[in-house]
Amino acid sequence: MDYRKLISEAFEARKQSYSPYSGFAVGAALLTNGGNVYRGCNIENAAYPATNCAERTALYSAVAQGEQSFCAIAIVGGLKNSMPKEYCYPCGICRQVLSEFCDADTFRVIVAKSEEDYEEFYLKDLLPHGFVL
Ligand code: THU
Repeated sequence: MDYRKLISEAFEARKQSYSPYSGFAVGAALLTNGGNVYRGCNIENAAYPATNCAERTALYSAVAQGEQSFCAIAIVGGLKNSMPKEYCYPCGICRQVLSEFCDADTFRVIVAKSEEDYEEFYLKDLLPHGFVL
């Protein structure tokens, strides 16, 4: 599959990043199995642990709007006001949160530096043995 459109949505999402403390701006675009896209950005807080990552913002926004079936997420992140220098992999908390709603065997995580330069993983490979109740 061509993920350019989803990556471009992640770059749009990144423009809304609220990251005055780290200066690190992240955007995510989550694709539903029905073809809808939900955007998320990181939202920081003066009380640092209250910060929400871009991936979780996108997921929580989608779930709050009635979506629970997802096939892929694109993530772009790096220092504000410049193109990402590295791939931005989701943190451990976001991997676990994604695994709550996404089939780890088929859900794809796309980390991108640009629309043309990206890597693609299955969630199961980024979160082996995630916690289940
Ligand atoms: N961040 C994300 O939004 N997603 C990630 O996958 C890694 C980290 C954010 C949290 C914080 O606002 C900033 O990046 C630096 O950690």
